[in-house]
Amino acid sequence: MNSVKSDIKDINLADFGQKKIDWAGHLMPVLNLIRRRFAKEKPLEGITIGACLHVTAETANLMLTLTSGGAKVALCASNPLSTKNEVASALVKNHEISTFAICGEDNKTYYSHLQSVLDFHPQITMDDGADLVSLLHQEKKDRLREVLGSSEETTTGVNRLKAMEKNGALKIPIVAVNESDTKHLFDNRYGTGQSSIDGIIRATNILLAGKTLVVAGYGWCGRGVAMRAKGMGANVIVTEVNPIAALEAVMDGFRVMKISQAAKIADIIITATGNKHVIDSNIIDKLKSGAIIANTGHFDVEIDVVYLEKAKKAKRTLRDNLEEYILKTGQKVYLLSSGRLVNLAAAEGHPPDVMDLSFANQALACEWIIKNKGKLKNKVYVLPKRIDQTIARLKLRATGISFDSLTKGQRQYLGSWQEGT
Ligand code: ADE
Repeated sequence: MNSVKSDIKDINLADFGQKKIDWAGHLMPVLNLIRRRFAKEKPLEGITIGACLHVTAETANLMLTLTSGGAKVALCASNPLSTKNEVASALVKNHEISTFAICGEDNKTYYSHLQSVLDFHPQITMDDGADLVSLLHQEKKDRLREVLGSSEETTTGVNRLKAMEKNGALKIPIVAVNESDTKHLFDNRYGTGQSSIDGIIRATNILLAGKTLVVAGYGWCGRGVAMRAKGMGANVIVTEVNPIAALEAVMDGFRVMKISQAAKIADIIITATGNKHVIDSNIIDKLKSGAIIANTGHFDVEIDVVYLEKAKKAKRTLRDNLEEYILKTGQKVYLLSSGRLVNLAAAEGHPPDVMDLSFANQALACEWIIKNKGKLKNKVYVLPKRIDQTIARLKLRATGISFDSLTKGQRQYLGSWQEGT
């Protein structure tokens, strides 16, 4: 216990947190298989991993997988509002994992927690949003040469890292876990779909049936939210800037229009774009009075909360994660989770069953970085297809689902060109 460092809310929450970790673990069979193999083979022996992730029960199971592989791990939060304090407590008290995360921490504390993780001199870093890598490159340049590589969980982080690569600023190899099919096709779509609806409902207790719900952005996350909202009876409108995604949304059966039009009729708008000021002052001014606005993108930049604050006459908190703004115009606007990702702040994030796939990728990314030590360039890599497919196979097997394989004749046919009509 002596070498364990921490800054957490309350160590006495450990029993409660442990039960959550156990339940989530029970729903993460692929990660459990990896954990058992790691325990035997110790592929991460002697490696220190610094992780900046949402501190949830699912993340705790990833941390336990990494430590079973022989790694020493230090963990901080990747968002000030997503930490589950009881989980942080269990990690420290029951598992001796150094953890720096308090739900509701201010920005200064958030960054001091990142610094605390970097003080462990990690050889591998793990990010959800690229804040740790960004800090390493901007303030801890001397530590960069100690780093073998880093893995990145989310679309926003991958975008930042690709921008660094393009600018020649990237000084370490990156594995873009988000680019694995077993990550974005499942976590971003089904995970964000379900957990964002969960967050909206927990914050407001509204009935979705019959409501006009606008989804800004039709990437994998937006698709998931639109699909699930439709399933609950909402009239879903999609807004997009990409003509192909807009066309897909139309053919998936959604109305597509400009956000400036949608704002006038929306009961609920949820942003899932990864971009800034999607709900800006113009859109806020157009909102129907009583509209609920929420964000499920990584950073709290999609809604211009600064404008909302300036435009308000009064504000009050009605429920956890639900603030009523009465604007000088007389409009009422309801903001969820201060514009931070509603699925993690107001609910529990993606369910364990889907984080099983994402975190299997994360664990195997660490192993891959170590196996390829000295061979990797300072660029953004995707895990080999073989690993992606193994994760899918293991998940299917764990779920008791069998599927077909090609016959020899079919394999030959697919590789041939002579046979036609
Ligand atoms: N990102 C989205 N959902 C998550 C969860 N449950 N745990 C960790 N990271 C997440």
